[in-house]
Amino acid sequence: MAKIPFIDLAAQQEKIRPELDRRIQSVLKHGQYIMGPEVAELEEKLAAYTGVGQCITVSSGTEALLISLMALGVGPGDEVITTPFTFVSTGEVIALLGATPVFVDIEPDTCNMDAARIEAKITSCTRAIIPVSLYGQPADMDEINAVAARHGNIPVIEDAAQSFGASYKGGKSCNLSTIGCTSFFPSKPLGCYGDGGAIFTSDPTLAQACREIRVHGQSKRYVHTRIGVGGRMDTLQCAIVLAKLHQFDWEIARRLEIGATYNRLMDEHRIERVRQRNDRTSVFAQYTVLVERRDEAQERLNMAGIPTAVHYPVPLHLQPVFEPLGLKAGSFPVAEAAARRVMSLPMHPYLTAATLEQIVTVVREAVA
Ligand SMILES: Cc1ncc(COP(=O)(O)O)c(C=O)c1O
Repeated sequence: MAKIPFIDLAAQQEKIRPELDRRIQSVLKHGQYIMGPEVAELEEKLAAYTGVGQCITVSSGTEALLISLMALGVGPGDEVITTPFTFVSTGEVIALLGATPVFVDIEPDTCNMDAARIEAKITSCTRAIIPVSLYGQPADMDEINAVAARHGNIPVIEDAAQSFGASYKGGKSCNLSTIGCTSFFPSKPLGCYGDGGAIFTSDPTLAQACREIRVHGQSKRYVHTRIGVGGRMDTLQCAIVLAKLHQFDWEIARRLEIGATYNRLMDEHRIERVRQRNDRTSVFAQYTVLVERRDEAQERLNMAGIPTAVHYPVPLHLQPVFEPLGLKAGSFPVAEAAARRVMSLPMHPYLTAATLEQIVTVVREAVA
């Protein structure tokens, strides 16, 4: 069998080629490679898309999280509550500012942070909560916001790196809490051709702080009023996202169809999978099943030309870099079990029904 792509950026590129070429040529012509007009255009369009007051584009999803925490004034001695079952960035930015990541275990069915476990972790040092909308499905944001509100309105930052375009109870991901942060890493549901990201907030003071921090804490040209970073998103990358925006809704609709078909086939074959809740839609940044003897299953799928990935094999509390936190194996049993069993399959808007059937047939044999 010919190898099936895990994601298919080439098919997408073919579909958007005229708009892509037009957008890139336009940037080359005006030559404003940093903070050119496409930056503001993208920010306006993304703010309108999500319904959030302001969008601030930045150089990556990681930088979006870092700048957001800096805007909230998080620093040494502070604690930030998050999930251990995420990409390293989520915990890394907390530690980078000298604050302590405080982990909360996940729900076994969605693999998102378990809102019911947050309250027990709140202390007088808690400065923020960062739920991650993993695999493209928003976490239980109402419950998380309610806990935060009960404890003096702790700011909630949604790490929506994987969930741009998803929704929760009618609201768009990135518009579900104090701040939303996303990533335009090429493989994300809305990706550019390099690194990129965005911060969303309807709080004008926080938005202004993020804009200043993005450019070395600059409030006016050569006036630096706070410590910042070099965190702008390139004009060219903004132009590429703009070229993809026209068909983003179509791509989301395809992702939903493919996710639903995958779900139906997995259920028919009794293959355990990450579940989606009825009150939200996932953009299926990943389509993820839960298997035993994962290495063997991956090997069999690989031999049949089906690539797989593991998001994520080691929960953050067991990463060497977080050893100083002193959290041993067994501290977060649900996340640890998920890390042993999750396996993501090819997922992109250009998958055909026949390929899906093919994949599921081989998965069934591989996990039998
Ligand atoms: C959950 C999560 N948070 C943060 C990031 C960081 O995004 P970036 O790679 O754009 O820095 C990612 C990217 O993989 C992610 O999946």
